[in-house]
Parts: sequence; structure tokens; C-alpha cells
Amino acid sequence: MYKVAVIVGSARPTSSNLKLAKALEKLAAGKLSFQYLRIDNLPFYDEALWDNPPEVVVQLKRDIAAADAVLFVTPEYNRSIPGVLKNALDWPSRPYGEGVWSHKPAAIAGATGGASGTAAAQAHLRSILPMMGLALMGAPEIYFQSRPGAFDENGEITDERVRTNLTIWVDRFSDWIARFATPATEVAARKAS
Ligand code: FNR
Repeated sequence: MYKVAVIVGSARPTSSNLKLAKALEKLAAGKLSFQYLRIDNLPFYDEALWDNPPEVVVQLKRDIAAADAVLFVTPEYNRSIPGVLKNALDWPSRPYGEGVWSHKPAAIAGATGGASGTAAAQAHLRSILPMMGLALMGAPEIYFQSRPGAFDENGEITDERVRTNLTIWVDRFSDWIARFATPATEVAARKAS
């Protein structure tokens, strides 16, 4: 089973993006195991902090390096990604030459109450991730409109058609990871060279 590091771009406990991630986790049961990485406790990026890097930063890098893939589930803030998410992208990309994003299979999803379903935020994220070397799945996409009643009391997505599409999405992401996941032996060889 592939280990997926999940990064949610919203810190609030009632986040609709966290709910969407949890719904995807249920649909992926038996195929993917989700590990939720905390990003709201990271300091703002500061190059000087690498002299004595904060443990939360070191741990985030370790967790990403240990994952087979990364899933970003993000809200849209003012037609882009939230600052907390951008900060969490920047830390693991450094120090130069020691980033942990490179070659990591990845996918994006997003939820908002708005009709655009975070399309603008996702477009920005799509311009960032490949530049950092992630192997980003282009399609299918998830633009989730989080209307009242979109999730039931168990966190299940109420719209059956949407649930079916998300099940297909999970299968495609699993296939994507199988195609691009770096075997542990190769990672070790890269580190040694
Ligand atoms: C928003 N929201 C929002 N929604 C959207 O579809 N497009 C946008 O540009 C914005 N801009 C925006 C800016 C700021 C500062 C906030 C706080 C919110 C609404 C936002 O998508 C909505 O609150 C989501 O529910 C937030 O995600 P979580 O916290 O529910 O995961």
C-alpha cells in the first residue's frame, strides 16, 4: 500500500478541504494510506534559520521524504493558494540541492463554497509543483464545491455521482503513484552518490 503525505492548505479544524481529504482517504482504503502533515506551526521561511533549523521543519522534510507520494488539498484565497501552503512548499525545497520534493508523485484537489471549485488556486499550484520537480498528475482534476449538505454526519460525500468520480480519481492517482514512485533502493543510491 502506498504511503501518501497529505497537505491541507487550511488550518481550521472544520475545514472543508480537510473533510474532502478525509473523504478521499475513505475511498482509497486498502490502496493508499494517508498521513496528514501539519503546516500551520511552521515559522515563516527564513534562510537564516537553516543554521539551526526548527524541528518542525526538519520533521516535515523527513515525512515528505518518507512518503511515496504527496496529495495537496487546498482552498482558494483571493484567486491563489493560501500563504500557509506556499510557506510549506518553500521550506522542503531548501537548502539548495537538499530539497525533498524532487521526483515525488503528486496530485491536487480543492474545495470551496464557490462555483469555481478552487480552479484559480489549483492553476497557480500547478505552475509551482513541476518547477520543484514533483511528478504532478494532470488529470483527472477535482474541483469540489462544498455546499451545505455536501458531507453527511459521517463525513461521506452525499452526491453519489461526485463520489463515483472521486473513486475513479483515487484509482487514477494510485496508478500514477505506481508509475512514478521511486523505489527505496533508488532513493538510497541517489543519497549515496
Ligand atoms: C476565501 N474564499 C475564496 N473562495 C474562492 O472560491 N475563491 C477565492 O478567491 C476566495 N478567496 C478567499 C480569501 C480569503 C482570505 C478567505 C479566508 C476565503 C473562501 C474559501 O474558499 C472558503 O472559506 C473555504 O471554505 C476555505 O477552505 P476551508 O477552510 O473550508 O478548507
